[in-house]
Amino acid sequence: MGGDYLKIGDIMEFFVDSADTELIKKAYSMGLCDGCTTNPSLIKQAGKDHKKVVQEISSLIPGPISVEALSETAEGMVKEGEEYITWGKNIVVKIPMCPEGMKAVKILSKKKIRTNVTLIFSPLQALIAAKAGATYVSPFVGRLDDIGHVGMDIIAQIKDIFVQYDFETKILAASIRHPTHVLEAALIGADVATVPPDILFKLSNHPLTDSGMKKFLEDSKAWKK
Ligand code: G3P
Repeated sequence: MGGDYLKIGDIMEFFVDSADTELIKKAYSMGLCDGCTTNPSLIKQAGKDHKKVVQEISSLIPGPISVEALSETAEGMVKEGEEYITWGKNIVVKIPMCPEGMKAVKILSKKKIRTNVTLIFSPLQALIAAKAGATYVSPFVGRLDDIGHVGMDIIAQIKDIFVQYDFETKILAASIRHPTHVLEAALIGADVATVPPDILFKLSNHPLTDSGMKKFLEDSKAWKK
């Protein structure tokens, strides 16, 4: 099982997959936000200026914030990355998995700029990104499930490959659709799960906890009278 691979000191991190600053703040206050991932669709949903919202998030949380490059050339992506890292101390440049993207990752990693290779749908794509020097790879589990694959399988395969070759690149499970995805990613030993806020807030819920708390509270009234 994936758990066997865990080295002492490794801890799974939770990132918030959102650009909603109120929800990011809430998650951070609950100890559920070790970082944040954004993408163009999430920025669009937030309805704010790209740079302003990233700067706002950067002032709220100390952990890494992924910000997606939009250019279609390596040169353009590197330029965007160099701009993004001036927006906050904790910016990671999100680069799409494509040949130009891999050129950009090589250049950015030489410049010690952290990258998150996104839109990963196969273990070989993750291997290529790791070889290029990516800090994170983001396999999209839910989108694979949507087309009839078992998305979590690629997390396990990427884990095997990265352990086999001792890559430092972190596995960031993305496109998470329900708490069980988070559980499965944790059992495999993914380094990070980036989780939409509504799912993140469900992780600590259990009806037996709620009913147990209610009963204890009621019983405590016996001596509080
Ligand atoms: O961060 C990107 C990723 O998590 C996208 O998720 O739900 O749009 O497939 P989804």
